[in-house]
Amino acid sequence: MPRITFLPSGTAIDVEPGTSILEAATKAGVALDHACGGACACSTCHVIVAQGYDSLPDATDEEEDQLDEAVGLTPHSRLGCQARVRADVTVEIPRHSRNLVSEGHG
Ligand code: FES
Repeated sequence: MPRITFLPSGTAIDVEPGTSILEAATKAGVALDHACGGACACSTCHVIVAQGYDSLPDATDEEEDQLDEAVGLTPHSRLGCQARVRADVTVEIPRHSRNLVSEGHG
């Protein structure tokens, strides 16, 4: 099964192929914001794929459009709710998102 590792915590979880990064984060207990509930209508689930980017299916036009709104966009950025894993990946939760999460719950 693909293994997803989340940075900066280093938390890892094995998931079925086709699981979204957001679903995996939720299962692993990693805080990843998802304001629209995974409907590809926000950019708060933005993650940066540190390893395994090329193993992910290509982003749809809808995902690309939402990603343009993401803070700290990088060439290896994806939306966590849209990117579904097929092989091992390592993803970084952007600092901005981490701040939002901690403010929202703290
Ligand atoms: S949760 Fe809104 S686009 Fe992913």
